[in-house]
Amino acid sequence: MEEIEYNDGIEVIIANASHERYVDEILDTISDAAKVRGTGIAKRTHEYVTQKMKEGKAIIALAGEEFAGFCYIESWGNRQYVANSGLIVREKFRGHGLARRIKQRAFMLSREKWPKAKLFGLTSGGAVMKINTELGYVPVPFSELTDDEAFWKGCQGCVNHDVLMRTDRRYCICTAMLYDPAKHKDGEKQDTCHLNKDEL
Ligand SMILES: CC(C)(COP(=O)(O)OP(=O)(O)OC[C@H]1O[C@@H](n2cnc3c(N)ncnc32)[C@H](O)[C@@H]1OP(=O)(O)O)[C@@H](O)C(=O)NCCC(=O)NCCS
Repeated sequence: MEEIEYNDGIEVIIANASHERYVDEILDTISDAAKVRGTGIAKRTHEYVTQKMKEGKAIIALAGEEFAGFCYIESWGNRQYVANSGLIVREKFRGHGLARRIKQRAFMLSREKWPKAKLFGLTSGGAVMKINTELGYVPVPFSELTDDEAFWKGCQGCVNHDVLMRTDRRYCICTAMLYDPAKHKDGEKQDTCHLNKDEL
């Protein structure tokens, strides 16, 4: 695997219980960003995000002690699907490939934890579409995503939730993107992930 050293002083790691002190800042940053973009966002509670950290299902980027970025993963539909959610990079750290590093790490973690699961995400952002495409995701209709009610409940806090309901969950503002491991040779995409030793 190709290794790239990042000399920006930012580490991208799997979060644990010790990172709970960042949760409120993460949630505030996500909701402030949604206001700026004027888009919807799935609302998460402090407890929910903390739980993800404790379960080793969250990725955090830290510049020293400072929170720089975050996302988490969760399995749905009896572990047949894994979603990547809550991606955020603090404004001052944007534009230097940090979201790409975070998403790559989340991708690796998802593949390690649930090798047979299909990975998916909902997004309205161009950067995420670009990163997902690099990882091997393709746009799909919502009908190809999990029918796990618990996942879709997460959309309830979004300002566009009425659209999702009106269309019987067939369409919404977000684009659905899916990575199906059955359609990729083993390890094919991991080889393109530029992760340094500390991130693995
Ligand atoms: C979206 C976000 C996570 C991107 O973070 P970032 O660290 O600046 O992203 P990166 O630097 O890794 O960019 C990755 C690629 O996307 C590209 N990109 C950035 N914004 C883009 C856009 N609007 N449309 C298309 N491509 C875009 C970048 O140019 C880069 O590609 P390149 O390296 O080939 O030039 C950050 O802007 C953010 O937190 N926004 C608010 C929250 C949000 O939108 N979250 C996603 C919800 S699905």
